[in-house]
Amino acid sequence: MATRLVSPRVGVARVLAEMLLDGQPDRWAHTIGVAGRAEELADTVAPDERDVLLVAAWLHDIGYAPAAAVSGFHPLDGAAYLDRQGWPSRISALVAHHSGADLLADAHGLGPALATYPDELSPVSDALTYADQTTGPTGQRLSIGARMAEMIERHGPASVQARVHHLRRPHLLAVAERVERRLADLDAGNVVSPGVEPGTPPS
Ligand SMILES: [Fe+2]
Repeated sequence: MATRLVSPRVGVARVLAEMLLDGQPDRWAHTIGVAGRAEELADTVAPDERDVLLVAAWLHDIGYAPAAAVSGFHPLDGAAYLDRQGWPSRISALVAHHSGADLLADAHGLGPALATYPDELSPVSDALTYADQTTGPTGQRLSIGARMAEMIERHGPASVQARVHHLRRPHLLAVAERVERRLADLDAGNVVSPGVEPGTPPS
């Protein structure tokens, strides 16, 4: 993989995430892993969208930070924190909706709050979710199937995650299928066309 220039904004996002997640070493290791996966997936998005993907990857779990936690639902808390700090609305919206968060938000009674953020359903949002869902809780590389199994085991069978898994699983698998198809297209020498490609809404 070619070395890429990292923009100042990506560097700022990394520093902010590291500061906010200080004291949560596993979460920080996971974040480093997700950002690394996002870098590997950067060619699945248009060249002028790669920065957005990397910034969102560094910031996607800051809602777990004490400085950000308000509702206890980390995608929403992370997005609201970024809003308060003046980050672009697209970044906060990507953080709000990463990894099928809307399906979990309904179970938390926070669906209307999350719906104030647009879900862009694009190659960028797909790559962010795929990076998160192929990186384990301490940064290890996992298949998406292993990651989902690990998530259910970690949260427990009575958890919100387990209760909505029948809805979230097909959404995450559809994301994975789209990203893996884009990677296969790249391997075949096809160039990813610029612009936002509509994704499949969660069922
Ligand atoms: Fe994550």
